[in-house]
Amino acid sequence: MYKFAYTRTFGCRQNEADTERYRGALTAQGYTLTNDTEQADLILINTCAVREHAESRAFGHIGELKRWKRERPGRILVVCGCMAEQDEIKKKIKRSYPHVDIVFGTKPPPEFQTLIEDIQRDPPPVACIPIISGCDNFCSYCIVPYVRGRETSRPTAEIITEIENLITKGYKDFQLLGQNVNSYSYDGLDFVGLLEKICGLNGDFWVRFMTSHPKDCSEKLLEFIAKNPKMARQLHLPVQAGSDNVLIAMNRRYDRARYLSLAERARELMPELTLTSDIIVGFPGETENDFEQTLELVERVEFDSLFTFIFSPRSGTPAADMEQITKEVKQTRFDRLLELQNTISNRRHAALAGTEQRVLFDSFDIQNERPLSGRTSGGRLVRVKCGEKYNESDVGNFSVVKITGNNSWNLFG
Ligand code: SAH
Ligand code: SF4
Ligand code: F3S
Repeated sequence: MYKFAYTRTFGCRQNEADTERYRGALTAQGYTLTNDTEQADLILINTCAVREHAESRAFGHIGELKRWKRERPGRILVVCGCMAEQDEIKKKIKRSYPHVDIVFGTKPPPEFQTLIEDIQRDPPPVACIPIISGCDNFCSYCIVPYVRGRETSRPTAEIITEIENLITKGYKDFQLLGQNVNSYSYDGLDFVGLLEKICGLNGDFWVRFMTSHPKDCSEKLLEFIAKNPKMARQLHLPVQAGSDNVLIAMNRRYDRARYLSLAERARELMPELTLTSDIIVGFPGETENDFEQTLELVERVEFDSLFTFIFSPRSGTPAADMEQITKEVKQTRFDRLLELQNTISNRRHAALAGTEQRVLFDSFDIQNERPLSGRTSGGRLVRVKCGEKYNESDVGNFSVVKITGNNSWNLFG
């Protein structure tokens, strides 16, 4: 008898990587994975606590599954992840959502743990590799250090062995994951040292990483990326705010000048770099002048794209107890920032037309007019038509593609 499992993820890349491990554990327990909740005998929901919005979406989804459980009470509903790490939330789930069978946070229960080594991952060529877990930075708005716990670096030898194995299986794009990869440290080896070891492995592949904290992102790191062709031309460097007052209140421990000089140096060393960032608008105490400094910084740096967030108070964090800004002001600032960034993103995207880009093809979709798609070293999505030159068997291969046009999301080649 087949039993089917369905998973859904609400959080960041770490959260996705965890789901991937749980899927491995579930298949090891005899489950077949499905995309259809109606078919599923087990549903696992991996939650995120970083903003209220992420939590309410997860609760919405859990609520909808009441009927699913009632239809066949033998079905199993698992809720896990950062949201479920918090005691009040755990209690709330037990009290208000009795159809949930198993609740755990970011550490899986023993019956999962023993099976987790048996990882089933996405097929080649892209693999996510966690290198450091937790976070010690305690930015004043952020819940992650409370739910994910202290920073712990994975042993270097374990990471290298994993990547070596994946290279022989045809993986060619390694995404190193952690809340702050720059603070990787194991037996005296730092992040650049780790990258050096990985790039020293034989094979044709790219290495990228996220997330970098500007306070720990060194000149040495930028130079290493610039001179090493295996390092992807992509840097996600969250600035969060453009004014020193707000950066101090956020406990980010770098200032505007330091960020600007980092970004400038990165662009100088690598004009082809895709530089992206995260920004929070409406942090407590943010004045109109503070916000204008954020706009000014965005204009000056010209990010390729930006993840923008409206500040969401998270209980237990210092910023939740500071004096809050009204919803209307937050929304207006958010819209202004978004509009500015859209103009910049479109401009930078369009500038790539006519260039040649090395692309790693990673998927094929017969329904699409341009079925074959892949990513550039900078992480941009490129779609090509199939026929004489390309076909489905190119998934997993590198190729140099001439860029002929674009829309807001894709480049065409
Ligand atoms: N470790 C990474 C990412 C952490 S979470 C970093 O330091 O950048 C991803 C993003 O969510 C953050 O960069 C931040 O922009 C946003 N974020 C975190 N807490 C938030 C909050 N309380 N309200 C709004 N946005 C938040
Ligand atoms: Fe949160 Fe700051 Fe840690 Fe990022 S570095 S996870 S924003 S506390
Ligand atoms: Fe990630 Fe959300 Fe947890 S951003 S670390 S899943 S709180």
